[in-house]
Amino acid sequence: MQMARSIWVFIFTAFIILSVGNIGLHSPAYAQETAIEQPTGGSVPGGTTDGAASDSELWRMIRQGGQGNVVGGDPNSGLMIQSQGEDWRKLRNEELPRYSAWAILGILLLLSLFFAIRGRIKIEHGKSGKTITRFAMIERASHWLLASSFIILALTGLNLIFGKSLLLPIIGAGAFSSLTIFGKFVHNYVGFAFMVALVMVAVLWIKHNLPSRHDIVWFLKGGGMIGLGHPPAKKFNAGQKIIFWVVILCGVSISMSGWALLNPFTTTMMADTAALANSIFGTSFATDLAPIHEQQLQTTWHSIMAVFMIVVIIAHIYIGSVGMEGALDAMTTGEVDENWATEHHSLWVEEVKSGGGKSTSKTAQPAE
Ligand code: HEM
Repeated sequence: MQMARSIWVFIFTAFIILSVGNIGLHSPAYAQETAIEQPTGGSVPGGTTDGAASDSELWRMIRQGGQGNVVGGDPNSGLMIQSQGEDWRKLRNEELPRYSAWAILGILLLLSLFFAIRGRIKIEHGKSGKTITRFAMIERASHWLLASSFIILALTGLNLIFGKSLLLPIIGAGAFSSLTIFGKFVHNYVGFAFMVALVMVAVLWIKHNLPSRHDIVWFLKGGGMIGLGHPPAKKFNAGQKIIFWVVILCGVSISMSGWALLNPFTTTMMADTAALANSIFGTSFATDLAPIHEQQLQTTWHSIMAVFMIVVIIAHIYIGSVGMEGALDAMTTGEVDENWATEHHSLWVEEVKSGGGKSTSKTAQPAE
């Protein structure tokens, strides 16, 4: 009797425990979590129990993360192995610095060669002594806000690519660490000044940078830089229009990837871009990116855009300063010599003189 009672109590207790356990496991909240987190319904997938099979499903779960092991919380915490992380690290530490250095040294070399061969582009007819208003105060202020913020971003950003190998050995670990941490904060905040300036420049100059038939002639004549005379141009010539659009389009792209880096794991821009490309071009880019992979692609894209812009802007700075006599005045005083203006922007001068150049209607006046 005693024995029968003991068996009955054991069976009853086991029944209660299993039932309660099952209710817990199948409560709506748990079911919802497992539906999301466990693609295999909670069981260990495939033939792994005898240890003889290599189970692709299991390895996929280990590589893609979050599956079956982690409920809620940081989606990255279920990611045990992320193969693309190794590729990213290699790209970040080896290819990116190498190709960036080539690109920047390459443009410096090209410009030096150009300068050695062509010299400074002079005002062909000399200074006239009369000036014409080229940029209003608001245009110059927007340009210099854009320029100064970009240069700060470029220097603090380049420190992240090259600082460890170039600066650290010279200034030592302590100074390099303080400088880099300071630079990182500066980079984060100055990014917003860059975005504001980008919008200002876009609004002020977009109408002068729409393509026109004169651009084709300008290209055919080599922009007047390689000794084939001065092709006619309005306020901005075709070369400047390219600079403008590179700055605006790459500037927007770099700002968006910067935003994604400032707010990690909150955006899916790379996955969305891949999906868009797939639907437009029929490509087959992966769209189910793990959050960490999304971030890695963002840093890579941000760096590529940055280095590309730096290369283009180095060429721009060259031509706007040492490369061409009379150009810098446009962005300092806002006044340019009439002969300079007629040589480089003849159609714009005609417009201004006939009263059509609204923003730059100040007519010629004696200089000095
Ligand atoms: C020290 C650096 C810089 C100098 C000396 C400089 C100089 C100039 C000059 C002289 C112009 C007017 C050219 C003209 O009258 O036709 C100009 C225009 C312009 N600048 Fe800069 N600039 C600098 C940096 C930058 C930076 C960093 C950016 C953008 C990130 C930029 C974007 C532009 C744009 C979009 C234009 C109008 C299109 C063009 O003229 O190419 N500049 N700059």
